[in-house]
Amino acid sequence: MSVTAGSTPNSAWIKYWGNRNDALRLPMADSFSMTLDSPTVEITLDHADVLSVRSFNPDGSEKELGAVHIQRFGKTLELVKQYLRTLGVEDALPASALITVRSQIPPAVGLASSSAVFSCLARAIQGLILPAIELTDEQTSVLARLGSGSAARSIFGGFSALLAGESDAIGSAYGRQYADEHHWALYNVILVPSMHEKKVGSTEGHPTAHTSPHYAARVQAIRTRRQRECIDAVLTKDFEKLQHVVEEDCIDMHHVMRTSTPPLDYLTEDTHRITRDITELRRSEHLPVFYTMDAGPTVQLLCTEEARDRVLAFARAQEGCALFEAKTGPGACLIP
Ligand code: DP6
Repeated sequence: MSVTAGSTPNSAWIKYWGNRNDALRLPMADSFSMTLDSPTVEITLDHADVLSVRSFNPDGSEKELGAVHIQRFGKTLELVKQYLRTLGVEDALPASALITVRSQIPPAVGLASSSAVFSCLARAIQGLILPAIELTDEQTSVLARLGSGSAARSIFGGFSALLAGESDAIGSAYGRQYADEHHWALYNVILVPSMHEKKVGSTEGHPTAHTSPHYAARVQAIRTRRQRECIDAVLTKDFEKLQHVVEEDCIDMHHVMRTSTPPLDYLTEDTHRITRDITELRRSEHLPVFYTMDAGPTVQLLCTEEARDRVLAFARAQEGCALFEAKTGPGACLIP
């Protein structure tokens, strides 16, 4: 029997950065995002005696996967088994699996492809083990988190959080949906100034967060105020409030990154120019648009339908940048 699932990345508005337990990806603070409708990843999961992973590019050609990537899938399956043991169904998952990944995500697009891949894998595992246990979406989001923290949020459509929890229990951090994809149609115009692979991946970056003298204040701000403000802004569709809190959190995360040991500076001159220019355009034309950046120079411009054409025109005028567009999406699902 084989199972196929599909999923997409998400746009992080309150950023997940730093763990209380790196091995289990138990975050220090909650995070929040909008799930996108594209680009998509499909994963087919088959029973197999040994772990093997095949990966195909958008053009259908097969991608050579490095040992590090294959090990990450193996490690994730091990952790998933560990979690399933706590639910009393450790044997639901076969000894090993053939994982076939078909990705429409251009390499180094600057959108966490790991969030799409591991939410997709989690949904496929949920489908594969259905005869033994019917996992809830929150439980499925734990499977996703064990592969990539941000992936826990892509299990759901629309607007969702990764709730950090408190204990060291493997299932203590999980995703939760606050509104589905029909609640609010927002557009994400994604500008990629550089297609070079990023130097330090998020997984290596998270453990450095604690070395920044500004990290404790960041965690405190999210716990006491920012996460709540972001959720409220989304639920009441208050775009201006959302703009303030998302940009504040983005600037704050990059401040923590730059002041960590070793310092991580993911933003380039292009990033700074684009954010400066869009801020000016927002002011002069009263445009509902805000920016956010993850662990790379890519700028995401989030806007409402009314601002979309203007933001697209702005984006097309950025020389040397690749351009992608996405909107609010439905999250990881099984493909019959
Ligand atoms: C800056 O989820 O990519 O994009 O768990 O190691 O895969 P791993 O980390 P990852 O970290 C995301 C970092 C971020 C912010 C976010 O998506 O919330």
